[in-house]
Amino acid sequence: MSNKRSSFRNRFSFYLLAIGSACGLGNLWRFPYIVGENGGGAFLLLYVFLALTVGLSLLIAELMLGRFTELSLLAASRKLVQSSGKKGYALIGWFSLLLTAIILSYYSVISGWVLHYLTQFVTSLYHEDSVQYLSKTSVSVLLQSGSLQFMLASVHLLITTTVVLKGFSDGFEQKIASLLPLFGILVIVLLFGSLSRDSNRDVLRFLFYPDFSKLNWSSLSHALGHVFFTLSLGFGTMVTFGGYLKGNEDHLPTIGLRVTIVDTLISIVAVLLVFPIAFSSSKQLATDPSLLFDVMPVFLSSIKGGILFGLIFFLFLWLAALNASIGLLETVTANITDMNPKLRRPLAASLAGMFVLFLTVFPAFSSSIFKNVSILGRSLIEFLDSALINVCLPIAAVGIVFVFVKTLKPAQREKMFVNDKMPTSIVMYSHWGVIIKWVVPILVGTALVMSLIGVAIR
Ligand code: PHE
Repeated sequence: MSNKRSSFRNRFSFYLLAIGSACGLGNLWRFPYIVGENGGGAFLLLYVFLALTVGLSLLIAELMLGRFTELSLLAASRKLVQSSGKKGYALIGWFSLLLTAIILSYYSVISGWVLHYLTQFVTSLYHEDSVQYLSKTSVSVLLQSGSLQFMLASVHLLITTTVVLKGFSDGFEQKIASLLPLFGILVIVLLFGSLSRDSNRDVLRFLFYPDFSKLNWSSLSHALGHVFFTLSLGFGTMVTFGGYLKGNEDHLPTIGLRVTIVDTLISIVAVLLVFPIAFSSSKQLATDPSLLFDVMPVFLSSIKGGILFGLIFFLFLWLAALNASIGLLETVTANITDMNPKLRRPLAASLAGMFVLFLTVFPAFSSSIFKNVSILGRSLIEFLDSALINVCLPIAAVGIVFVFVKTLKPAQREKMFVNDKMPTSIVMYSHWGVIIKWVVPILVGTALVMSLIGVAIR
């Protein structure tokens, strides 16, 4: 009896950890504007399909690699170097590690935006006309001030580093993640308000009537990149988390499926929340990173009790971003300490935090000091977002597939995948094998070639 309870508690904690890492700014901030940028319904359909096939398959593989090796990605790839003699294999681990640090720097800047809105809602309470006060808050104020963005990102990163450095991140992450259901309830309450707008018919048409002519050359890489980003794949985060399941008999495909479903549902709720407001408040649909920040304050200050709702909304959103950031920094720290066991955790976490802080300068000042930098017709932050998530992350994901296939023998994979009590797992096993070994690399290659063609003919 007591055993049963503790194993349930472990499993529950694990779900909190994995779902907490998956659900973050990717769902609420990034997904809506990516859907808008790629024309709505057809992209949404493509995204859901890829999440449930490619995303789910890779999630299972990353968890399996972690449970099997009990190592972080860098250490697992270095082990491959020892067994094969091929030094180049370690590059896979290094590539993911560097990518994780760069993405955390960029993620911290956006988390800083959330902090800014949170403070605006708090200070609005002290103004007679809160609505009037909030109407002056806009993303452009933030974009004009690189130092404000840098300061906010630094505060966010400092809190993240303190949690990871103290080593209580596991418990902390779980505590924050256990607040997620409350956040879910708040979002659903707001959803009723948003869905009662008269722009609804247009929105439902935009989101659920797939018009495939709206897809463009880069839509496939946008969809794939976002699937990896939102499910925390390609970073090695899920490999690290999989290590926590050592000795645990839980069926990994079932865990992966549940995490994928929850994450995908939250993303769909996010678009249902944002688009009705965006459609009714402007003729021109914003399809850039400011979308969520442009629509939510306007909407919140227009409803009854909206200031309080807004305050709680941005607080939860920031906590979700903090949780995801802890997962990212935890991954970097675990990779460093695995590689160099003599290095103590607080030192490793501080070094990682300082390195990320240095990188933060670039996204934070992209619209001020670096505002004249234009790469392929995009601003620095837009270029970073696209290059990191749509190009580098899918490449890193293929690298992890490679380490996975080289490390686990087919019999070992089958043992962890097939569950005798679930006949479907036998059928799914062969599909999963094909997706991991063939579909993921071919699809990533195709997406990258198509994006290149798109850039060339623009
Ligand atoms: N999945 C998170 C999001 O959607 C981002 C993230 C990636 C968090 C990797 C941790 C690790 O916001």
